[in-house]
Amino acid sequence: MQSLRAYSSLYGALIAAGVAKVVVGAIDPDPRVSGGGIERLKSAGIEVVVGVEEEACRQLNEAFIHRTLYKKPFGILKYAMTLDGKIATTTGHSAWVTSKESRHLVHQLRSTCDAVIIGGNTVRRDNPYLTTHQVSSHNPLRVVMSRRLDLPTQANLWDTQEVPTLVFTEVGSACDKQKQLSAQGVEVLALKSLTPLAVMQNLYDRGLSCVLWECGGTLAAAAIAQKPFKKLWHLLPQKLSAVV
Ligand SMILES: NC(=O)c1ccc[n+]([C@@H]2O[C@H](COP(=O)([O-])OP(=O)(O)OC[C@H]3O[C@@H](n4cnc5c(N)ncnc54)[C@H](OP(=O)(O)O)[C@@H]3O)[C@@H](O)[C@H]2O)c1
Repeated sequence: MQSLRAYSSLYGALIAAGVAKVVVGAIDPDPRVSGGGIERLKSAGIEVVVGVEEEACRQLNEAFIHRTLYKKPFGILKYAMTLDGKIATTTGHSAWVTSKESRHLVHQLRSTCDAVIIGGNTVRRDNPYLTTHQVSSHNPLRVVMSRRLDLPTQANLWDTQEVPTLVFTEVGSACDKQKQLSAQGVEVLALKSLTPLAVMQNLYDRGLSCVLWECGGTLAAAAIAQKPFKKLWHLLPQKLSAVV
């Protein structure tokens, strides 16, 4: 409702300022507002041109448009792979299968997302931060999916001073661990059934638009089966990155 009010006052401000012409890239698909603002501007005698660089505007807003039209967040699966098809080193760490340039790209990608998801194993093996590492002041909500909750007591994700962390688990799993994480400032939510779609639904209900999946192969396989992705990012070992 707040954003609808903001739109309304924006149109009011344009009319009050005596603006002669407004150029609209793409019409907002939200049925609560779609085309309404344009009519209001036209009624006030303002010339309105619609559809300039429409495709580029849609791409810029693809997550918001997807959320609005399909009532679910826009999912992106990102994975890094060596040229011989490995997603981690022999010691089980994935941060070093790419390059500094690729990691910078990932930090930029995170800065455009509302949440980033990993599975319990990636917390145990990589102890990641999942932040944008100063690429941007915006950090996505950090999300962990873990059924067993056999997670370390100390982890970078449990430091929630600057960026919040949300752990999804299943009802009845490791209640002591749930309490311990909550006491550390981590939000813990136990779902009846911990599935990728249930998690996406919850993130949608929280108002999120763009969700980045940065999990390992186990959770990625479970997620692919439920098709929560619209885009795939395959990072290559060099600074090149392919967006499919
Ligand atoms: N190259 C890359 O892009 C990349 C990215 C991330 C990770 N990795 C590497 O991947 C390795 C970890 O592999 P992984 O595949 O085991 O990690 P993962 O997919 O991140 O985690 C798997 C865990 O996800 C949890 N989970 C929760 N709900 C699930 C569901 N519905 N289906 C399946 N899993 C669910 C379980 O945690 P609980 O056991 O806690 O219940 C499961 O053990 C690490 O070596 C890491 O370095 C690579």
